[in-house]
Amino acid sequence: MRPERGGAKRLCVPALRLAALVLWGVLSAGALNNGLAKTPTMGWLHWERFMCNVNCREQPDACISEELFMKMADVMVSDGWKDAGYEYLCIDDCWMAPRRDSNGRLQADPVRFPGGIPRLADYVHSKGLKLGIYADVGNKTCAGYPGSFGFYDIDAQTFANWGVDLLKFDGCYCDSVDHLIDGYKYMSLALNKTGRSIVYSCEWPLYVWPFRKPNYKEIQQYCNHWRNFADVYDSWQSIKKILDWTSSNQEEIIGVAGPGAWNDPDMLVIGNFGLSWDQQITQMALWAIMAAPLLMSNDLRNISPQARALLQNKDVIAINQDPLGKQGYQLRKENNIQVWERPLSNLAWALAMVNQQEMGGPQLYGISVDSLGKGVACNPSCSITQILPVKRKLGIFAWTSSLKAEINPTGTVLFLLEITQKT
Ligand SMILES: *[C@@H]1O[C@H](CO)[C@@H](O)[C@H](O)[C@H]1NC(C)=O
Ligand SMILES: *[C@@H]1O[C@H](CO)[C@@H](O)[C@H](O)[C@H]1NC(C)=O
Repeated sequence: MRPERGGAKRLCVPALRLAALVLWGVLSAGALNNGLAKTPTMGWLHWERFMCNVNCREQPDACISEELFMKMADVMVSDGWKDAGYEYLCIDDCWMAPRRDSNGRLQADPVRFPGGIPRLADYVHSKGLKLGIYADVGNKTCAGYPGSFGFYDIDAQTFANWGVDLLKFDGCYCDSVDHLIDGYKYMSLALNKTGRSIVYSCEWPLYVWPFRKPNYKEIQQYCNHWRNFADVYDSWQSIKKILDWTSSNQEEIIGVAGPGAWNDPDMLVIGNFGLSWDQQITQMALWAIMAAPLLMSNDLRNISPQARALLQNKDVIAINQDPLGKQGYQLRKENNIQVWERPLSNLAWALAMVNQQEMGGPQLYGISVDSLGKGVACNPSCSITQILPVKRKLGIFAWTSSLKAEINPTGTVLFLLEITQKT
């Protein structure tokens, strides 16, 4: 969750196993070959909203406990989240007991998770959902619980035995960047060896960036998705920084995204406290453009109907989950307006106009359609539908026409462009 500084000291991984890593690298090309995350992972992750709250005595409804996840599982089914595609219910840091058991295995905090993770996994599976868990490549998790260093095989097997379906593997408390990289690779192999299908969510590049440029070709071969940038906060400042980082580094990162392998700009914070309505629209629209995992961190038991409708918006989710699996990018930036676009299957394109001016009223912006979608999106013409803030069919646009919109400060207008075939 936060990059740790440290110099090269000792090997994270027994030297013997490095030979296997090299072989693995030669054999695999493209995305991690575990058949998972063919479209970006959708679900819920506790961190941004519930953090490391272990105070179940005074905040029983907000502490990290079996109860919290069971209730969230109930609501995911009863309130349409599962039907909308949100499938993975994910635990973040602070689920563990402070020590491993006598066999060296991780164990859940016995008071907060009285049935252990297996009972929770059974419950989550009985609802037709999948369970995600959290561990760390180094000696401790970011919050100071036992790390997986020296226990990669045992931990992978423990998670598989428990019926876990996703692992978020953090990078705190690792004393060198080379050993961090080896640890991430090793865990990928260890998960594979269990034979259980487990989505592997990494933070590898986030922790490598302070030292050197990460090797994304390699990361893509070992992880289903990976965090590049700092944790998301419940604030516009945070969303803006994530978008700025992504557009500044898009040459580096969008080419490696595809089915089974995604850049992860972190959780959706829609439905919490910090974002205005327009800013929530911007997060939803741009996470769809970026082909980002949609991992909500909010309280599904208590969320406004408006935020729920946005998070469950079928048209936006369809863009995010488009089977072509190409990540979108920033096409241009003029003063405070940014234009982003994403190629979709069936020659369609998604287009987002973002107004970053935190002043004034709605800004009018126009763009000629022949400049969109590499010049082919509207050639000879296309049908354009506004998806957000509200759905509106705008009709047929000729190649020579221009598309105009009014965009609220810090808001986004999202469009779908569908080519009209020559007759
Ligand atoms: C393990 O890796 C092999 C080779 O890439 C792959 O065919 C297999 O499906 C993987 N198994 C799991 C459980 O991920
Ligand atoms: C974990 O701690 C041990 C003992 O201090 C040290 O040798 C090792 O390098 C540490 N591992 C990581 C990944 O920081």
